[in-house]
Amino acid sequence: MNSGFPHRRDSWISATATSWAVMALSQALPAGTASDSPIAAKQTSPDQSPAQGKKVDFSQQVKPLLERSCVGCHSGEKAAGLLRVDLREALLKGGESGTAAVVPGRSVQSLLMEYISASSEAEMPPKAARDRFPSLSQAEVTLLRQWIDEGAEWPAGVVLAEPKSKE
Ligand code: HEC
Repeated sequence: MNSGFPHRRDSWISATATSWAVMALSQALPAGTASDSPIAAKQTSPDQSPAQGKKVDFSQQVKPLLERSCVGCHSGEKAAGLLRVDLREALLKGGESGTAAVVPGRSVQSLLMEYISASSEAEMPPKAARDRFPSLSQAEVTLLRQWIDEGAEWPAGVVLAEPKSKE
């Protein structure tokens, strides 16, 4: 089962635990005065809010990341996990899981975000290959999330290539 909730096949228990945590946290919140929404709904997590109105630039910010840490395995005919990350359509289609790696506008439903999150059991790039494919920093993960939430724009004609230094 993949519901988009973190921890993939264990998401059923993760969802239950999260519900209990939410109940506990809501006891600690001040009561809201407005009737439309609770106070907590008005707060945005700093991690998720887009950087001060500045839109992510695919060519400048996202492309180099994917080229550095993903394209080496996820391109061409023999792409790992049958997923190519060098074409937008391929990301939307997804790999062997049959789940879209990127759902434009919806990072929480995007399998890719799950694979690069620190809590994932299938963390990418794979730990054994980190010497050749550096892991993503927290800021880079945030950047990818923002790019997806902004619609995963990929200007026509921008082609991803493996870094020349490899092999
Ligand atoms: C060293 C090779 C390697 C690198 C580098 C790598 N991956 Fe992977 N990736 C794999 C392999 C192998 C699988 C299939 C096994 C699995 O699903 O865990 C996979 C699977 C995936 C899947 C699941 C595809 C599906 O539909 O089942 C996603 C999403 C993914 N990788 C994203 C990424 C991203 C994003 C990066 C860069 C940050 C990355 N990978 C870097 C080897 C790699």
